[in-house]
Amino acid sequence: MKIEIITLFPSMFKGVLEESMIKIARRKGKVEIKVHDLRKWTYDRHRTADDKPFGGGPGMVIKVEPVDRAIEEITASDPECVKPTAILLTPQGRTFDQGLARELSGLEHIALICGHYEGFDERIRSLVDMEISMGDFILTCGEIPAMAVTDAVVRLIPGVLGAEGSLESESFNDGTLEYPQYTRPAVYKGMKVPEVLIKGDHRKIEAWRCAEALKRTKERRPDLHRKKRTK
Ligand SMILES: C[S@@+](CC[C@H](N)C(=O)[O-])C[C@H]1O[C@@H](n2cnc3c(N)ncnc32)[C@H](O)[C@@H]1O
Repeated sequence: MKIEIITLFPSMFKGVLEESMIKIARRKGKVEIKVHDLRKWTYDRHRTADDKPFGGGPGMVIKVEPVDRAIEEITASDPECVKPTAILLTPQGRTFDQGLARELSGLEHIALICGHYEGFDERIRSLVDMEISMGDFILTCGEIPAMAVTDAVVRLIPGVLGAEGSLESESFNDGTLEYPQYTRPAVYKGMKVPEVLIKGDHRKIEAWRCAEALKRTKERRPDLHRKKRTK
């Protein structure tokens, strides 16, 4: 899979792409990630990627031309000239969740476009295939959402995670939250690990985990629990 990140702040990505799971996935050749400076596609002396909004108002708006050129050039650099699925990170988009992460992990080539300041020139929306939001809150920039999307998507690419089993039991995979986990010591300050986990009967452990996952989902996410029951 190829992920292109288009940003005004490329250096924000340094740590994130060079650590942990993303670093491993890149080393294994499972994903190729390129970070592009949006200013590369500006042609004036000051490398202006934003401008004042028409009609007045606070802040600056990302200009349409550099984003258009970025998508065109990235498309032209593809060996078969296939346009990547272009995704705008915006609080006005579809809320990101595990289902969408799974959908994106099945794509060959995506481009994540990060906003800043007051947002995007509206015409940029007609250049993209999808708009994604992290939720109903406002961040300063689209770089943190792009990192979150990249991380959630990359770990779903087959062969990236060592123990594939860990994906199966993870929260949201089958519409429930994950069961409680414990490690040593078996007793800490009077708090005991459930006996069933220590005894080693795998069928009983499986049944306990399944029941706990449902109980936890019902308590914490009644919306998910209702959906699971009506499936
Ligand atoms: C300060 S925000 C602009 C918000 C915009 N004025 C509005 O009210 O919709 C700047 C940039 O941060 C990113 N951003 C902020 N909150 C986000 C969210 N919840 N999900 C995805 N991107 C977000 C977007 O790229 C956005 O263009």
